[in-house]
Amino acid sequence: MSTLSKQEILFFKEEGYLVKRDVLDPELMAYARERLWEAAPSQLKRDRLETWIGPFEERCEDKMSYRSGYRWNYRQLGGEPWMIRLLPKNPSVWYMAEQLLGKGMLREPDRVRGIYCTLPYGDVPKKPSGCHVDGHPFHLGVVGYIDDVPPEGGGFMVWPKSHLKFYYDFHSQYRTEPTDQYEKDRACFSQQAGVDCHGRAGDIVFWHHRVGHAAGHNYSCQIRQAVLYDFRKQDIEHTMEESPCQNMWRDWAGVERSS
Ligand SMILES: [Fe+2]
Repeated sequence: MSTLSKQEILFFKEEGYLVKRDVLDPELMAYARERLWEAAPSQLKRDRLETWIGPFEERCEDKMSYRSGYRWNYRQLGGEPWMIRLLPKNPSVWYMAEQLLGKGMLREPDRVRGIYCTLPYGDVPKKPSGCHVDGHPFHLGVVGYIDDVPPEGGGFMVWPKSHLKFYYDFHSQYRTEPTDQYEKDRACFSQQAGVDCHGRAGDIVFWHHRVGHAAGHNYSCQIRQAVLYDFRKQDIEHTMEESPCQNMWRDWAGVERSS
């Protein structure tokens, strides 16, 4: 069972993210990879690495299996119970999310976002990534890797400490209502290099809902395969339209207590 130490909670508070290693269940990850390959378009052959290099030959507009360029957002499985057990209801993941947001405060998950993939780019010149902030209402994001994600392999990228700025760049706490300052801060952070949260199968990244982030470019030979979930507290309907609080950790019982 993984838990968060006081230092880790403080790291999350200051940096806006936290990586925890070796958390996810190997059997559920193997099953997720199986199911992903069952749904893969014929262009991709599991036993022939050279076929994994993108882009996709055909776009797929179906929201449940959206494919375009190098990205494949496979959402079809997101509501299956084993997917929920794989990520938010993994006992360690749930426990740690409650450590941050408060015990008994989280909304029960009915689905996860899905398995999000980035195909390898192949032999192309490297280019920088810019960051963005998600707008939809949630408190705490978690990304879990179901296969190894080497450095520069399309891992989740974060811009440390940007949550401390971006939190105040919206008119409300949890809705998509950026102020004029948002675009200025986004341009400014995007000039800096983000942190590449690479890792092994089973590693997870927790991230604050207003931290600047991006899906990294994939210069590895692997298909980046990640599962994503957004934790929300039960009271989000009541708090989401409030203006950002002077104390940005008001809704984070565990973070408040740690400092
Ligand atoms: Fe995003």
